[in-house]
Order: sequence, then structure tokens, then C-alpha cells
Amino acid sequence: MKRVGVAILGLGVVGGGTYKTLVDHREFYQKTQNVDIVVESVLDKNTARLKELGVPEECIAGSIAEVVANPAIDIVIETIGGVGVAKEFVMMALKEGKTVVTANKEMISKCSHELERIARRNSCGLYYEASCVGGVPIIRTLLDGVQANHITEMMGIVNGTTNYILTKMAQDGADYQTALKEAQALGYAEFDPTNDVEAFDSTYKLSILSSMAFHTKVPYTKVHREGITTVDAKDIAIGKEFGYALKLLAIGKNSADGVEVRVHPTFIPAEHPLASVNDAYNAVYLRGDALDDIMLYGKGAGAFPTASAVVSDVIYAATHSEIKYSTFKNNATADSNVKFISDFSTAYYIRLSVVDKAGVLAKICSVFSKYGISIVEIAQKGRECENSDVVPLVIITHKTKENAIRNAVAKLKVSELATVESVIRVEA
Ligand code: HSE
Repeated sequence: MKRVGVAILGLGVVGGGTYKTLVDHREFYQKTQNVDIVVESVLDKNTARLKELGVPEECIAGSIAEVVANPAIDIVIETIGGVGVAKEFVMMALKEGKTVVTANKEMISKCSHELERIARRNSCGLYYEASCVGGVPIIRTLLDGVQANHITEMMGIVNGTTNYILTKMAQDGADYQTALKEAQALGYAEFDPTNDVEAFDSTYKLSILSSMAFHTKVPYTKVHREGITTVDAKDIAIGKEFGYALKLLAIGKNSADGVEVRVHPTFIPAEHPLASVNDAYNAVYLRGDALDDIMLYGKGAGAFPTASAVVSDVIYAATHSEIKYSTFKNNATADSNVKFISDFSTAYYIRLSVVDKAGVLAKICSVFSKYGISIVEIAQKGRECENSDVVPLVIITHKTKENAIRNAVAKLKVSELATVESVIRVEA
């Protein structure tokens, strides 16, 4: 039976889950995959963690140099995270011709093209199923399952922390800070939640997934990014009355006009399959020209769901002699011929506070009309307190250009006709 040696760099949550999965399932993989995958070496300075996981003394490496020089190691698993040390170690492994499997979305989003070129030069693989949506096999689906299609659209809930927070705000009417604290207490959100709540994590994932879906290099810097920190529970409740659910969506669209990539809080119809993805669950909804629509759903984080993705790459690399690389010409300027659309079109929900007196509505509508924005629905809600003549006014627009909305909102702000409380994009 073929024997494949692996090393694990970093025994945090995902590295630890990967170690346990590989050790516990070794015989199962021998039987089902006809391959003996052996953890030869682990590299982590945390001796308590090594002990907790029961790593045998002879498997503990002293340095990365020792790992990459070990001829018994075919595959190096990187579960350190971040770009600095992780990238340095990955480059050392690739330069020694060792296939790398990683869960590192930030490194892959920022450096995969450079790393893949090093892998190609050294005839080894670079696999990263675990970098996006944890246990959900979205990358293999894009690389294999849906290759028959032009993928025209992708919409994903790719961050569990923010989905948990928005679910709590929707279900309990909790405000953002309260829901965040609950997510932190449950271990979903980190002490410093910036990476999740400001949507950096979703942005990295969208750049990786849309590069694969659209066969083109999509740098993370091209993704329009807005997080959830300013989401008001009031809008979630009002949106519900209009038949919408609010989600942090990672949206990629590919058409003859170009590629559009954006992450922001988005209203979707309550009957959309993504609307029922709640708590810390993730899902990716794809539209292909032959396939029509599909949705993959599951756990996007956690030790074992993510280890499932890491180990699936290890098994793939251990059982295939042919290496899979990106499906477009990967050079440093691969994105220079791609047209990225920043003035995208979508529908909008706008909540204003206005003075409830004759003529105000007409003036507000004339501002929208000036910028060619067509209104689908207007609803004036009741006064928020008895002795104020200010009322909330909610406007839903037809599909319109982002810049038109920005101009109209800027005009409303200077006109003092209304206070613009929130602007939320709406996808059908
Ligand atoms: N922090 C991420 C999430 C998981 O909340 O989904 C890892 O990307």
C-alpha cells in the first residue's frame, strides 16, 4: 500500500482537529482509499498542546528546516494562519517540492497566485479547500463538479460569526453590541472581532471563490467591502415587514460587462434559500448556465468541519498523481485584462427620518427622480415618539446604479430634507 507522510504546522483549533482526524481515521483511509497516511511530524512550540493531543515524542519537530528536509514527508499541512510565518514556511515546503495543504484564507487570498507559481515550478500541489466555508466542499465543487458551466453568479453566507450575530438580531430584536457579546461568549466571535464583523474574512473568501468560479484572478482589493457593525435591528424588523431577511452576503457576478465582487449586508426575499441559513451556518448559492441553481450548506468553521476539508485535500493529493492548479493563466498581471465593475446595479432599501408635513415627500421623490432612480414602494411608519413630528420613511427602489444612489443620498443629506438613517442593498 502506498505510504504518504504528512507534517502539520500549527496545532491550534484546526491543526488539532486535523491531527486527531488523521490519527483516528488512519485505518479507515487504508481501507477506503488504499493509502496509508501517516502523521510523521508536527511543529508547534506549545508543549501543553502537544501533550493534550498525545503527539508522540518522535513526531515533534524542532524547526521548519527539519520538516522540509525530512524525505519521509510528502505533504505539509499549514494551519498557523496569517501571512508572515505561515507564508515563509509554505514557501520553504513548496521549494522542497512538498505539496502544501492549507486552511489559510488570508494567505491564499493575498498570495495564492505567487505560491501556485512556486508550486508549479517545483511540481508539487497547493490545495486550500479549508480556506473557504470550512467543511462545505465548495472549492472541489467549483474545480470539478460544476466545470461544465459558465458560473454567472455566486452568493454566499461565508462567515459564521456575522451570520450568528444577524440571526440573533433578527430573532430576538437584540442590538448589534448585545448580539456580538453573545457570539463572543459562545466562542464564535473573537475578542477582537474586526476580521469577521468588518467583513475582511468574507472578502478573502469571495476573492478565492470568485477566482475559481470565474476562471480569472480576482484580487481581494477589488472586492467592495462593508461589514455589519452599523446594522440597526430596527432595519431588520422593518425589512421583515417587507418580506426580507438581512444577511451579510458575499456576491460575485460575471457577465459580458465584467466581474462584480462585493460583500455587504443585503436584504434577500424571505423565501430565498439563503434566507433560512441561520446561526453560525454557512451556505453558497451558485448559478450556472447549464446547471441552473444549487446551494451548498453546512458548518463553515470549527475544529472538525474544517479538518474534514483539510483532510479531503490530503487524501486528494495522496491519491492523485496529477496536480490541479487554477484554470486560468496564472501570471503576476493575470487580473490586468479583467474589467471589474464598481458602479454595480441592485435594488435599495433606504430609511429616512423626515418631518411629517405637506410637500416633503414630493421633494424627496424629486431628488430620486433627478438621479433616474425609480421607486417600487414607499412606506411611512408611525411616529417614534408622540411629541415629535419626525417619522421614519422607507423607500424601496427598482434596480439602479450604486453611484446614482450615492449621489441621491448625498443630495438628501445637504438638502436637510431628511436624515438618511440607513441604506441597504436588496438582491432578488
Ligand atoms: N471566523 C470565521 C467565521 C471562520 O466566523 O466563519 C473562519 O473563517
